[in-house]
Amino acid sequence: MSVPAGLTARERFLRACRGEPVDRPPVWLMRQAGRYLPEYRRVREGISFLDMCRDVERAVTVSLQPVELLGVEAVILFSDIFVPVLGLGIDVDFRPGPMIGEPLRTRDQIHALRVEDPRQTVPYVFEIVRGLRRALSGPQIPLLGFAGAPFTLAAYLVEGAGSRSFSAMKRMLYREPALMRTLLDVLTEMTVAYLGAQIEAGAEAVQLFDTWAGLLAEDDYRKWVLPTHQAIVERVRGGGAPLILYVNDGAHVLESMLESGADVLSLDWRCDMGMAARRAGRRASLQGNLDPCILAAPREEIFSRVRRIAEQARPARGHILNLGHGCLPDTPVEGVRAFVEAAKSLAAGSA
Ligand code: CP3
Repeated sequence: MSVPAGLTARERFLRACRGEPVDRPPVWLMRQAGRYLPEYRRVREGISFLDMCRDVERAVTVSLQPVELLGVEAVILFSDIFVPVLGLGIDVDFRPGPMIGEPLRTRDQIHALRVEDPRQTVPYVFEIVRGLRRALSGPQIPLLGFAGAPFTLAAYLVEGAGSRSFSAMKRMLYREPALMRTLLDVLTEMTVAYLGAQIEAGAEAVQLFDTWAGLLAEDDYRKWVLPTHQAIVERVRGGGAPLILYVNDGAHVLESMLESGADVLSLDWRCDMGMAARRAGRRASLQGNLDPCILAAPREEIFSRVRRIAEQARPARGHILNLGHGCLPDTPVEGVRAFVEAAKSLAAGSA
């Protein structure tokens, strides 16, 4: 298969997801709309983060900023993994990380959860998706939707907030496995409905964030996490949008990630890209995996790291350049700009 001339950003991205030849890897950054951008902080002024997620106009504006200011080649919906959780009737606040009003610790709380239609409970999300799709039809930039994966959502919902070890969640998993399974099943239902509605509203690819699943050893990951990913991939795939699976600190579960059926695996920087590319082969494309802190390094260093990652990823069927985790609030904008330029300077065959 040869590379068609003059690919649009949308074609390059979707082809890379499916493992079809492209001229060079497309580039975007996780958490590309955020506090490191002065223009984001200006729009965010005087309004809470959750209200920003409900404000269609502001959310569309900040989603588009990284394209206009930095030239990234994909847009991700501005929202948070906890927005659909509001539709379960759970109270969530951000300070700045998520805080759960009443952490889920009992059978009664978990058995009372009901999954409603997200188009009814959080309609603004789909208005943002539709607004973005309209804005991106001219420049032909792909639009990504996303959701948090059941394990990561459960980790926060049981723990009540972020944690280094999520030990309350893991305790429930080992002490009350049937209850944890019920919670994961509810969250799987919610995620399937939520991603399906985003695709219906115009998302062209979706990313599933399982940030904390790497906390489990491989056998527990296979038992608790893999079936949730397989169910989501199988039920969302009908929508025709490729699915990208992100697990932070997940090098030890790479084989299980491949078994999820996801089109693209998004890797963190501790996972060796060369090894992952050889293991993945034609089974999945890869995304990643620069350490976000390297964006503070000199421009030449960023360029050389990008060339190295692209080179290591060559045995994979497709590669999307990205960070290994979200862009941090103290990231220099110049570093992000250098990252995007470095990616665009890569030519097919010369990576
Ligand atoms: O990537 C993007 O630009 C799209 C928007 C997006 C946000 N959160 C916006 C956000 C996405 C995809 C997320 C995903 C998310 N949220 C994850 C999974 C990915 C990851 O980073 O591991 C998780 C675990 C969360 C939960 C969450 N939300 C945390 C831990 C925090 C605090 C982080 C921090 O930077 O302090 C948030 C808040 C949040 N989500 C912000 C943004 C832009 C900062 C809010 C602000 O403006 O104050």
